[in-house]
Amino acid sequence: MESKLFFGDATAFAAPALTVFAADTQTDKNADPQPALLNASTFIATTAHTLLASGEFKASLGEVAVLHAPAGIKAERLLIVGIGKAKDLTADALRRAAGVAVRSAKARGIRDLAIAFPETASLTQQSGASLDSTLTARAIIEGAEIGEPDWDTYRSDRKGRAVESLTLIAPESQRANIQRGFDEGRTVAAAQNFARALVNEPGNVLTPTELGKRAKAMCDDSGLQCEVYSSDKIQELKMGAFWAVAKGSAEPPALIVMTYDPPTAPAKDAPVLGLVGKGITFDTGGISIKPADGMEKMKYDMAGAAAMIGAMHAIARLKPAVKVISIICSAENMPDGRAYKPGDIVTAMSGTTIEVVNTDAEGRLVLADGLHYAKTLGCTHLINAATLTGAISIALGSLNFGVFSNDDATCERFMDGLAVSGEKAWRMPCTDDYRDHIKSEIADIMNTGKNRYGGATSGAMFLKEFVGDTPWVHLDIANMAWNETPKPWLPYGPSGIAVRSIIEWVRSFAA
Ligand code: BES
Ligand code: ZN
Ligand code: ZN
Repeated sequence: MESKLFFGDATAFAAPALTVFAADTQTDKNADPQPALLNASTFIATTAHTLLASGEFKASLGEVAVLHAPAGIKAERLLIVGIGKAKDLTADALRRAAGVAVRSAKARGIRDLAIAFPETASLTQQSGASLDSTLTARAIIEGAEIGEPDWDTYRSDRKGRAVESLTLIAPESQRANIQRGFDEGRTVAAAQNFARALVNEPGNVLTPTELGKRAKAMCDDSGLQCEVYSSDKIQELKMGAFWAVAKGSAEPPALIVMTYDPPTAPAKDAPVLGLVGKGITFDTGGISIKPADGMEKMKYDMAGAAAMIGAMHAIARLKPAVKVISIICSAENMPDGRAYKPGDIVTAMSGTTIEVVNTDAEGRLVLADGLHYAKTLGCTHLINAATLTGAISIALGSLNFGVFSNDDATCERFMDGLAVSGEKAWRMPCTDDYRDHIKSEIADIMNTGKNRYGGATSGAMFLKEFVGDTPWVHLDIANMAWNETPKPWLPYGPSGIAVRSIIEWVRSFAA
């Protein structure tokens, strides 16, 4: 889909459909909904009047009404899209509503869609009146671009019913701010969709080698440096934990290093950010093999890596004034004659010895070496993303991903960015009193907790061993990387979760 920005009058814009958002302004819980259009045009108000007065349309989030041949408007249809309660009108509600608009246009075979920039003058007394125009423009473009794709690339019966173009029609008065938000939104959404496309690929197509090729091609395209190493380098660097996982597969592993240098050389003591991703292109569990039921989903065990590659895609274009190095540890976790086994003791690059209790806890092993390596490359602040534990789903369901950190200030930067990214995350404990979980009798640490309880924190505590004093944030996205239940604004499949928030975290260092 190609997104365009047009400054002018929405009613005079010729298109198969024009989207106008609507909010429910009713504040009395016991009274009927009171939908109001987020648009000041009297033509649009007159056309929609009968529908809105009928009580049929409640303006709830995800609700759509279509009026054909609307009087006084150049577009062939008026698509009225609910955003929910006016008091809940946030940029994120608009992000979702824009996704709803695109997905419902797609289902109707509409290939060109216009969206009228929301006007909130009618909502003066309510919270939406203070929407920031840059963030609003950005959220609408992101929602639309993220809502558009269906992950049916491999289906012979795919409909090919893409919405080909989207035009955001905005008022002149906020031109510069809206233009900025629009440009950022396109960049960020492209990055998220890039990550999703990687996650969508099956394990037989996207091997570690192929992931390396795609990362390299993206970097060449984006003006980033990229080095892709394999078995020799991993052994040469003494990455014993990463290698233990990798050696059980006929597919060679990939250690991918992507570097972004800001346009102006930063000061000597300026931060260097390390973005580390878990890139297990398929996780069978290894010798501690997983049950067959649902194992096919383990192709998305590289979603952390995809999130980082996606973030680098955007960073190359947004050009923040901070150096960023991304390290991807990619391997396939397989049972094999040469595979690592429960009971094995491996030595990580840091020198820490690890008792392998369960070969299915492989993500923390590859990340242990990735995080340590990032420090040796000069990273002063670390963030990693990983589909690390099933336990994070038990703890948080699938509405918030997990955030763990050893440093409040660095973690707060991340949490602050959520207001811009519109993603939801919850900080989980990762304090030293949990270190008992990973204590081993015969090595420095073991790769599982003592029992299933607090499993997501056990995983985080393991990673924490390898970051030392370096401020670090760990994102456990296992519960959100794959969208199982389609939503009106988001299809089934890869979500691209965390890409937007990682980008904001990086930008916070440049501000
Ligand atoms: N890749 C899995 C975690 C996962 C589970 C991702 C569900 C996405 C959806 C990870 O490698 C794993 O298997 N973790 C184990 C750890 C355990 C053996 C300590 C788990 O969560 O069961
Ligand atoms: Zn596993
Ligand atoms: Zn895994």
